[in-house]
Amino acid sequence: MPNLFDPLQLGELALANRIVMAPLTRSRSKGLVPGEMAVDYYRQRATAGLIISEGAQVCAEGQGYLDTPGIHTPEQIKAWRRVTDAVHAEGGKIAVQLWHVGRISHTSFQPGGAAPVSSTAISAGGKTYTAEGFVPVSAPRALSLAEIPGVIRAFVRAAECAMEAGFDAVEVHGANGYLLDQFMRDSINDRSDDYGGSIAHRARLTLEVMSGIATAIGSGRTGLRLSPVTPVNGAGQDSDPQALFNHIAQQLAPLKLAFVHVIEGQTGGARDIAPFDYAAMRQHLGGASAWMVNNGYTREMALKAVAEGRADLVAFGRDFIANPDLVRRLRLNAQLNPLDRATLYGGDAKGYIDYPTL
Ligand SMILES: Cc1cc2nc3c(=O)[nH]c(=O)nc-3n(C[C@H](O)[C@H](O)[C@H](O)COP(=O)(O)O)c2cc1C
Repeated sequence: MPNLFDPLQLGELALANRIVMAPLTRSRSKGLVPGEMAVDYYRQRATAGLIISEGAQVCAEGQGYLDTPGIHTPEQIKAWRRVTDAVHAEGGKIAVQLWHVGRISHTSFQPGGAAPVSSTAISAGGKTYTAEGFVPVSAPRALSLAEIPGVIRAFVRAAECAMEAGFDAVEVHGANGYLLDQFMRDSINDRSDDYGGSIAHRARLTLEVMSGIATAIGSGRTGLRLSPVTPVNGAGQDSDPQALFNHIAQQLAPLKLAFVHVIEGQTGGARDIAPFDYAAMRQHLGGASAWMVNNGYTREMALKAVAEGRADLVAFGRDFIANPDLVRRLRLNAQLNPLDRATLYGGDAKGYIDYPTL
């Protein structure tokens, strides 16, 4: 029987175990560059089979929150290199999460104070955290057809920057109501061109991004995160998520990505927020890629999911923030540190690099 603590060959990557650190935005990157503390933070967590970094914007327009790092400038590449070197020195593996927030942004983050871009001109509602504190997200502008190749190029270029920075892999952020999700769901996408309307049209941008990156850096170093039914960030629910994500899985199969990472239910909330058959979606992928699951997993749930073959890998988010030695604690069935919610976003070392190990 497969075991959570067993090694796994994931595309080009030999992982020490099947426990993944989920992507976690911490908003501590002053000047949009990961700092000295980030090197310690990731090094402390290098016993994960795979670390997926916090979301890193692929271009200036991709930013939506204060002090999130980018992965598109020489300065950012250099700073991330220090992080990847530190993780590798501990024998760990690390992927960067490639992020474009689309309409979940504010004009103060956008070049020239412009409107954020999306599949639509309709606002997501809700707030984002800026230098002025929490403010409503700004009304977006729908990308023109002519601008879409530029978005794909930004993702591909960022993947190339990630390789330069020493990352072992990239995870494209196709989840949680951000740009790619804004194209996939008919609860948001109101276009009538080749990137809106039918399922095939709505899936197209994500598939073109994945194919572009796989060609540029190799499919064995490329993964994708999806969240079929999470309603977060004003995403609502697609009219037929099962058909949409079955189609996406089927179209991804020939790409043979290293992994597909699925958030089950509402991100950070109810796992049964809406009906969805994840096993059916996985069947459409046909075993072409490793299957990574996330959301509210306990030790027992993770052990069972891997043993029963329902998942190849399990990603832990909040538990990894509070437990740098999570793998060891899970192995020993030791108690976990509680999470300090007040220090999740922004601030200093407190709640970032000072959680105790066993
Ligand atoms: C502080 C915080 C920051 C997060 N940042 C990201 C992010 O940058 N990218 C992403 O895809 N998900 C992000 N998430 C979602 C987590 O990756 C994960 O899906 C969620 O916490 C549920 O997993 P868990 O129950 O193991 O914590 C974030 C969650 C938290 C709590």
